[in-house]
Amino acid sequence: MSKNILITGGAGFIGSHLVKYMVKSHPDYNIINLDKLTYAGNLENLKELENKTNYTFIKGDICNTELLSDLFARYGIDGVIHLAAESHVDRSIRDPFAFAHTNVLGTLSLLQTALVFWKNDFEGKLFYHVSTDEVYGSLDTGEEPFTERSRYEPHSPYSASKAASDHFVRAYHDTYGLPVVISNCSNNYGSYQFPEKLIPLFINNIKHNKPLPVYGKGENVRDWLFVEDHAAAIDLIFHKGTTGETYNIGGGNEWKNIDLIRKLIEIVDRELGREPGTSDRLITFVTDRAGHDLRYAIDSSRLRNKLGWSHSVDFDEGLTLTVRWYLTNPEWLERVTSGEYQNYYQEMYINRK
Ligand code: NAD
Ligand code: TYD
Repeated sequence: MSKNILITGGAGFIGSHLVKYMVKSHPDYNIINLDKLTYAGNLENLKELENKTNYTFIKGDICNTELLSDLFARYGIDGVIHLAAESHVDRSIRDPFAFAHTNVLGTLSLLQTALVFWKNDFEGKLFYHVSTDEVYGSLDTGEEPFTERSRYEPHSPYSASKAASDHFVRAYHDTYGLPVVISNCSNNYGSYQFPEKLIPLFINNIKHNKPLPVYGKGENVRDWLFVEDHAAAIDLIFHKGTTGETYNIGGGNEWKNIDLIRKLIEIVDRELGREPGTSDRLITFVTDRAGHDLRYAIDSSRLRNKLGWSHSVDFDEGLTLTVRWYLTNPEWLERVTSGEYQNYYQEMYINRK
């Protein structure tokens, strides 16, 4: 059945993988990608979709309710998959207001627009909110992984803003009956990730023989999931998930930062034809992040048991694919690190018209 789906934040890391996945696997759907193109949005991630007839890009802010109403009216939106957010913990420590603005008020603006347009007929409508495992706070070593029933206990301004947005999504379901679904996912890795996050930043630094700033003692643990497995999970939940439900998505793949960094060094050195251990000397322990969560780990058994999801890529394979992608796409990295990528919208969308 044909659907008009609004994906927000589709020019970012996960969003661009999801948009490509959905445009290709659902040619009968009309995918509208709304993205403000902040520093994290990069239309070059979506280059291969430029001639697709079931794909439309709109540059705009999720906080702009007039624009949202116009899009719902113009495209007859019947599904929303909401990813647009400020997403980097270190930035949230420096500028919490930007996170409250986009993550909380932006989500609220979208919820209210969906409610106004859908309230007379919720049939066939769905508001899917993409969230993070960081809302659950931090686990001690040996504690059971987060389930969907874990208490919300966010510590960073980023996770606090995502927690607040999750609460608003549930409030719109419980108060107004808006059909919603939420997923909370662990750390993603893969191609097209902005090189401020651990994995792409460190691949780039190893390549250029630059120091690798390891926060604290590198003992924090993250549960890593290949981004394409996340995109497939979102598609599955969007189509088969139960309205009002929450699904945890995780890799079952916990790594202490320092062990992951040593593994990354090993792969990058090997791929560059360097002697094993060449880049170990780049490891530099630096002051810890304020409020640094010790450990995240996700129990995704609800998603596995009820919807039959499983991840398709194991970590060795996923990390090698990821390293190869960054090493064989130096132009992408260079355009991002130089800031040149931000002219792409101008070049491709404005000058062409
Ligand atoms: P990202 O920072 O790479 O991309 C965010 C996108 O949102 C960018 O394209 C940006 O331009 C856009 N955006 C920001 N503010 C906007 C606004 N006001 N209006 C419209 N667009 C705006 O983020 P990501 O890593 O792809 O994460 C996507 C979503 O998934 C986020 O909601 C994040 O909380 C969640 N998430 C991320 C991870 C992860 O490991 N990266 C894990 C779990 C959940
Ligand atoms: P990050 O990729 O920022 O994701 P998140 O904070 O959302 O988990 O960081 C992953 C882990 O790596 C986290 O424990 C912080 C750590 N880290 C460093 O040690 N050095 C760095 O330069 C960065 C960016 C992260």
